[in-house]
Order: sequence, then C-alpha cells, then structure tokens
Amino acid sequence: MRNISAVASVVLIVAGTFGCAKRRPPAEEYPPGESVFRRACQGCHSLPKPDEKTDDGWSDFLRTHVDQAGLTAEEQTTVIEYLRKNN
Ligand code: HEC
Repeated sequence: MRNISAVASVVLIVAGTFGCAKRRPPAEEYPPGESVFRRACQGCHSLPKPDEKTDDGWSDFLRTHVDQAGLTAEEQTTVIEYLRKNN
C-alpha cells in the first residue's frame, strides 16, 4: 500500500507540475472515453455538454454526426458510451 501511494503522489506531482505549462491538460489525464471526446469533438465547435442530450438523443444524433466528424468505428463507440454514462 505504501508503495502504491508513493507512486501515486509522484504521478500527481509530475502531472501537476507539467499540466500547468500546457494550454490543456494532456489527454492521459482523462479516462479513455473522455480523451477521445475532447480530442474529436471540439475541432469544429466548442465541446458539447454530455447532459445536453438523453441516451437515445446521443445515439440518434451521433449516428449521423460522427461520420461528419470523421471518427473511426471504435472512437464512435467510445464517445457514445462516454456521453451516455455522463449525461
Ligand atoms: C468536422 C467538424 C465537426 C466535428 C469534428 C464535430 N462536429 Fe459537432 N457539429 C458540426 C457542425 C457543422 C454542427 C452544426 C450543424 C449540425 O447540427 O450538423 C455541429 C453541431 C453539433 C451539435 C449541436 C447540434 C444538435 O442537433 O444538438 C452537437 C451536440 C455536436 N455537434 C456534437 C458533436 C460531438 C459529440 C462530436 C464528437 C464526436 C462532434 N460534434 C464533432 C461539426 C463537427
């Protein structure tokens, strides 16, 4: 346990130190779904809020929109799962 928390502290210190130097935190700080969402969904407009739509709303809307956004099939699934979990 001691080792794990020591490693966690070092990771937090490093992330904190270098995180501030960048405009946005590095993608690795986000869970996988959120990092894809942040990378793929704010190139053309500001990042939508996950609670903008219901589960079905996101599925229906993104079915067509992800083609426009140029996401791979895997990224589509990841983003839809992320939005449905966080709405
Ligand atoms: C290639 C550019 C592009 C990318 C990348 C993109 N969008 Fe969009 N998005 C648009 C355009 C253009 C509109 C406005 C026209 C429309 O509604 O299709 C829009 C509108 C929206 C809207 C508001 C429209 C509504 O009916 O609610 C939401 C929500 C949205 N995008 C979510 C996303 C998400 C989530 C992603 C990531 C998967 C994403 N967008 C990636 C171009 C993009």
